[in-house]
Amino acid sequence: MKKILITGVAGMIGSHLLDELIKRGYEVIGTDDLSFGKLEKIQHNLDNKNFKFYDCDILDHDKMNVIAKGVDVIAHLAAVKKLGKEEFDVRIMEVNGRGTESMFALAKSNKARIIFASTSDVYGMSSDIPLREDGDILMGTSSIKRWSYAVSKLYSEHIAFAYYRHYGVPMVVLRYFGGFSPRSSASWSGGHIPIFIDAVLNDKEIIIHGDGKQTRSMAYISDIVNGTVLAMTNDKATGQIINIGNDEELSVIDTAYLIHEIANTGKKLKLKLVPFKELFGNYRDIMRRIPDLTKARNILGYRPSVSLRQGIELTIKAMRKTL
Ligand SMILES: NC(=O)c1ccc[n+]([C@@H]2O[C@H](COP(=O)([O-])OP(=O)(O)OC[C@H]3O[C@@H](n4cnc5c(N)ncnc54)[C@H](O)[C@@H]3O)[C@@H](O)[C@H]2O)c1
Repeated sequence: MKKILITGVAGMIGSHLLDELIKRGYEVIGTDDLSFGKLEKIQHNLDNKNFKFYDCDILDHDKMNVIAKGVDVIAHLAAVKKLGKEEFDVRIMEVNGRGTESMFALAKSNKARIIFASTSDVYGMSSDIPLREDGDILMGTSSIKRWSYAVSKLYSEHIAFAYYRHYGVPMVVLRYFGGFSPRSSASWSGGHIPIFIDAVLNDKEIIIHGDGKQTRSMAYISDIVNGTVLAMTNDKATGQIINIGNDEELSVIDTAYLIHEIANTGKKLKLKLVPFKELFGNYRDIMRRIPDLTKARNILGYRPSVSLRQGIELTIKAMRKTL
């Protein structure tokens, strides 16, 4: 039986991946420093004999070396996605850059396979839609802090290739496109869907960035987890960058209408459109972000199986229970 380490296990994707791996009978070690993750997301697994949790910062080399001893696979999901407060500026680069490098060193010393959670953000402002893994990337200038997350992940992709080519570490880079679930953070780092659902269920105003015509392709968590497990278990994925998500496209404002329609609260939809410049200064929003899933299909046999509507229905149902 394989022993798997999930970093960032108390986060949205990590906690669902843990559920799936436990269900499949794997032995799982999970770490999280609980800076953004919550213990309640993994509470139901804490007593499982096949799971061991460690409250640990991935930058703590000595502790991570002991925790990871003998693992066969590392699913490296721990990252800082938040922008905003100045303290996060340094943490993003430290955790996503230096922390990721440490996780590749850990994979090397344990002769483990490593799956690295990258992001559609690395495509930057590329308008080459649908976005292909071998396409060019267009980043904004470094003085705009919104780009730091994308650049930190891009840097880590290069670490992945350096360790793969130089040390032969078997790695897969997965570029996730906007995943959501009832466990998503209800702040912007969890994407727009959970925030909009929370607003509609609680009769609050929905803030729309700009005119809301920018589109997104959002994937329900089970598809993200499925793609991750396929990458973990399929050797043909080794040394590859693979988009994982759903290629269904819907504008942000139409997503608000759809959520309002599905929730059927009997209350009016309250939308507030805020000009982009007021929110993010010189950062220009990405207008379209659709994954090309050909590679995921050909290499992994991956196909998203939950439509946006079904994913929203499932999320609303679960979020209603916690109200
Ligand atoms: N959710 C998405 O839509 C999405 C899209 C693209 C990429 N990703 C990537 O997938 C991964 C998981 O995303 P998520 O949505 O579950 O995020 P999340 O914020 O819910 O989970 C990340 C976890 O990492 C933990 N963490 C942060 N710094 C740490 C550190 N120094 N040591 C140990 N743990 C630390 C946090 O506490 C958190 O629990 C991230 O790498 C993210 O960049 C997610």
